[in-house]
Amino acid sequence: MAKHDNKFYADRAKRFIPGGAHTYSKGDDQFPANAPAVITRGKGCHVWDAEDNQFTDFALSLGTVVLGHAYEPVLEAVRNELVKGVNFVRPSIIEGELAELICDIVPCAEMVKLAKHGSDVTTASIKLARAYTGKERVIRCSADAFNAVHDWFIGSTVVDRGVPQAVKDLTLKFEYNNIDSLSALFMQYPNEIACVIFEPISFIEPEPGFLQAVKDLCEINGALLIFDEVVSGFRFSLGGGQEYCGVTPHLAAFGKAMANGFSVSALAGRRDIMELGGIEGEQERVFLLSTTHGGETHSIAAALKTINTLKEYNIIDHIWKTGGLIKQGLSQAAESAGISDLVEVGGYDCKPAFAMLGNDGKPCMITRTLFLQETIKRGVLMPYIVPSFSHSPQIIDGAMEKITEAFAVINKARKEDNIAGYVEGDIVKPVFRKYN
Ligand SMILES: Cc1ncc(COP(=O)(O)O)c(C=O)c1O
Repeated sequence: MAKHDNKFYADRAKRFIPGGAHTYSKGDDQFPANAPAVITRGKGCHVWDAEDNQFTDFALSLGTVVLGHAYEPVLEAVRNELVKGVNFVRPSIIEGELAELICDIVPCAEMVKLAKHGSDVTTASIKLARAYTGKERVIRCSADAFNAVHDWFIGSTVVDRGVPQAVKDLTLKFEYNNIDSLSALFMQYPNEIACVIFEPISFIEPEPGFLQAVKDLCEINGALLIFDEVVSGFRFSLGGGQEYCGVTPHLAAFGKAMANGFSVSALAGRRDIMELGGIEGEQERVFLLSTTHGGETHSIAAALKTINTLKEYNIIDHIWKTGGLIKQGLSQAAESAGISDLVEVGGYDCKPAFAMLGNDGKPCMITRTLFLQETIKRGVLMPYIVPSFSHSPQIIDGAMEKITEAFAVINKARKEDNIAGYVEGDIVKPVFRKYN
């Protein structure tokens, strides 16, 4: 039990942190008024707030905690490294060990550079592509919700305040599964495109031949293909979305699930491109990635243990099955509560998606707020779904009973034509919006 109540910690965070959290998707505007204001600890797929209320967690720290909170074998590996010191003036042994392991597993990986955040490595991949091709424009995919916290990406969203126009002009967008939208950009900007970067697979299935067609277009036009595998990596398959889809990019960026919540990311790619960031040969140098904390040993130990555990116990398979159960459970719960028309369930089983809809059949923030409020009341945290090794069928069944009750409240509210009236605070908002 924490020393103070939830409100104490929430007030302090709001006073001293812009947005009240260091990640926008954790902010108050993303959750209903009754959401736990802080999380004090987690174990498996459960978390507790400052007042010791327990929640079944389906979000698992933005999708990072693939084995579950405080997974003991990972903690043990971390402890073993911690006592030896955490960072040194020369590389540690395990930096090389992790880089080699990634090269064994990931199809595009011939060399690897480690960092801390997914954004570190997506942005480094852009730098490398620009250096390799001598071109400046970047094409990203309009379907990707996020690729980096840096200006090249944020400048291409609605929240572009503070990003120079010259930077914004360099990022273009194409549509997923629409190869014509990509070839139109290559035609519009001949010899100017350094790379195409996007999530190879997310919620929608790539049409047959689409990813290979993107690669072909890149190669014909002298651009690099970069897969943002920060989410798809170590989830769709051990070798990531590229292994699952059978198309190997020139570079790829990994993060999230690779260290069970510890901060490790990796840029992986073809040797001749990656070597531009090296210090050998006569070439002009590229200042690729150089981070004080990139070699932090206990995080790297966490990544090694996580990846080896995923591999040894075929946990990717478990994750697919678990996600399938969650999707099935949600659909059944919606049906038995009589609101199938208000709940859209989709996505791949390893990365399910759901949307709460309005009476017009479109995603609705009011219905979403009521869903979050009523599930949180019943001890379930499901802002989004990230299946993990820690979600057992029994836990999922228990959560689905609670979700069915929450859906029943939504049905009652809908019958009274008053969903908004049942919401006990502000309506949640999208992260990417122009004004507060
Ligand atoms: C697809 C994708 N790429 C990149 C990132 C950036 O990762 P990070 O927040 O670790 O910088 C995210 C973060 O959510 C992401 O979802």
